[in-house]
Amino acid sequence: MKAAARTLAFAAIAPLATCLRAQVPPANVGARMQEISQALGVSCNYCHTAEPGSRQPEPKKEIARAMMAMMRDLNAQIEAAIGKTAAEAARVECVTCHRGVVTPRQLADLVMQTVREKGAARAVEQYRDLRSRYYGRQAYDFGEDTLIDVARRVADARPDEAIALLELNLEFNPQSARSYMALAHAYTRKIDDASAMAALEKALEIEPDNGVARGQLEQLKSYHRKR
Ligand code: HEC
Ligand code: HEC
Repeated sequence: MKAAARTLAFAAIAPLATCLRAQVPPANVGARMQEISQALGVSCNYCHTAEPGSRQPEPKKEIARAMMAMMRDLNAQIEAAIGKTAAEAARVECVTCHRGVVTPRQLADLVMQTVREKGAARAVEQYRDLRSRYYGRQAYDFGEDTLIDVARRVADARPDEAIALLELNLEFNPQSARSYMALAHAYTRKIDDASAMAALEKALEIEPDNGVARGQLEQLKSYHRKR
């Protein structure tokens, strides 16, 4: 009965067709394999690519095997470092790093790399796509900080790209005063003080007590009076 229930639960998560190559596992292996699949956001065939018994190479499975060994070492080192037993210590699992994706990169790094290699328009597309697929999961941080961080890193050299990313951020976080402040900074890099001041006004509408935004606005205004 128990085994049957597990088989059913297992079939519910991984469609049968995706499991044909992986043999029907004993319950304990099945639970472990299900956990691994979920941690990486893949089906069984991502690693089990060969027909059972065919002895064809399975490169992803070999990587996974190496990751399992790495994880055992990591956990042993963690236990030694903090002086807890295996039962007491928090464990590093596949999901600790992978968070539901095969390549566990931070969202800011992914977006940054796309900005560098393909420009802001593609980065905006990529962010929208990832958000539509992963929002509400642990894979990526879609909070307001991610795009602000990337925009700050590119604003000096490529203000237009920073502006595109910040406008995207404001679409999803319309109350983000910090996005408007970063936007103001990007506009000053283009010597577009009028837009910079407008962005700072927006920031102050949202956070009237924001002393930094107020100071920057005053500074831009007095600079204009002098000119
Ligand atoms: C990320 C790669 C990966 C995924 C995904 C994965 N497995 Fe595995 N699987 C392995 C590795 C590696 C082993 C060998 C484990 C070991 O050496 O301890 C293994 C072992 C097994 C075994 C024991 C026989 C064998 O081939 O060594 C079965 C059965 C199995 N997996 C079934 C599944 C099923 C069913 C799924 C989907 C729910 C699945 N696996 C998903 C990597 C994976
Ligand atoms: C300490 C962090 C960490 C842990 C824990 C970890 N991984 Fe990974 N794994 C990575 C990183 C980082 C990469 C990607 C390297 C790259 O492609 O740049 C990776 C890549 C992989 C890949 C190759 C993905 C691909 O197709 O390119 C597989 C398969 C994989 N891990 C399986 C596992 C499994 C299974 C576990 C648990 C047994 C695990 N990993 C645990 C960090 C980790």
